[in-house]
Amino acid sequence: MYSEVSRTSDLNDHGPFITTILFSVNDRLGVLDECLTTIKDLNVSLTRIESRPSRTPDWDYDFFVDFSAEDTKQLIRIVTALEKITKRVKVVSTSATNATTEQVPWFPRKKSDLDSFAEKVLEMGEELDSDHPGAKDPVYRARRSEITRLAKIYRHGQPIPEIKYAPEEISTWGTVFRNLTKLFPTHACREHQYVFPLLVQNCGYGEDNIPQLETVSKFLQECTGFTLRPVMGLLSSRDFLNSLAFRVFHSTQYIRHHSKPFYTPEPDVCHELLGHAPLFCDPDFADFSQEIGLSSLGASDSDIEKLSTIYWFTVEFGLCRQENEIRAYGAGLLSSFGELEYALTDKPEKLSFDPSKTSVQKYIVTEYQPIYFVAESFKDAQTKVREFAKTLNRPFSVRYNPYTESIEEKIIRYTQNIKSDMTTLIDALERLQ
Ligand SMILES: [Fe+2]
Repeated sequence: MYSEVSRTSDLNDHGPFITTILFSVNDRLGVLDECLTTIKDLNVSLTRIESRPSRTPDWDYDFFVDFSAEDTKQLIRIVTALEKITKRVKVVSTSATNATTEQVPWFPRKKSDLDSFAEKVLEMGEELDSDHPGAKDPVYRARRSEITRLAKIYRHGQPIPEIKYAPEEISTWGTVFRNLTKLFPTHACREHQYVFPLLVQNCGYGEDNIPQLETVSKFLQECTGFTLRPVMGLLSSRDFLNSLAFRVFHSTQYIRHHSKPFYTPEPDVCHELLGHAPLFCDPDFADFSQEIGLSSLGASDSDIEKLSTIYWFTVEFGLCRQENEIRAYGAGLLSSFGELEYALTDKPEKLSFDPSKTSVQKYIVTEYQPIYFVAESFKDAQTKVREFAKTLNRPFSVRYNPYTESIEEKIIRYTQNIKSDMTTLIDALERLQ
């Protein structure tokens, strides 16, 4: 069992605190009810519940819950009670609140607001799960911590810190690079193939060199306005998707453990730079990704779940049709030698990308996907996501202002009132005539 209550010691005793807790459970009938009743019995009302399939093989689901804790004692009581019935409990974040409850979940309005996500890492931040190949290697853990500490203190506007990679790290990258680049010509989408040589030319991609995030970020910015931002580990779906609205992609900087170059239970620099970065150079793909991000701002928890499922089946594991062939554009595929080969065989099922169906498709995170969704083009996928976003329950619409790097909101209810007043006015004018 794993728990972390130490962060509560940073707080004074006087709440309330907006708190996020992560706990993992097995697929046992009634276990979630048990957890929720336990929390309710301690006189705590939840303001958010988010679930996702667990990334750790022994557990089935991770739950993230938000609530307002009265004081540290109440918080410790909740953690202790949950520890008795779940696999692990972790206090993800706590912050003081003025106790007002917003109906619309908070979302970043300007690019610098993304700084608030820096420490809100759900898992694999400074700790490693026991199934991580580097969990028992103190040298690897120390090195990984050294890199994540830099991400923790990074702030908007600063250059991304340069990492001097060790020969062993470069050798791991080289093994992954050599194997994947053999498959790209036959398996990667046209856009990835077009951009990859440009990254070799301009950003130092090669089997003997791990490119620096700062160099790649500057190149992306020149292509599509996307930028990279270093991150300690996995963010919540909401925070991660919200960043895409600003054309910001959170990227790890550490590399997987050298003992298993073809396996990593978490994103690493190979996944980010070989899988994600090339696609963010494509204008249509960049627009498509930002569309998902914009739809996620202030979205309800259930809509966030739908959007993160769409993200999973597109940006991570998407396939597309090009010249009567199916090719991969998802970063999870383009950074995994085994799954990239498997995805294009007849073994998995392939369905047409349709946000209303894709958004509710169940998926697994610890094995190859049994189902993939095929997009006709990035433009087509973007149009479909935009249409889908209109069906989501959000009382306002948003647009990104690239000049101020901020989000502008339009209150739909207000404009609807104006529209209705206009109809009445036109009707009155017609009667006068
Ligand atoms: Fe990814």
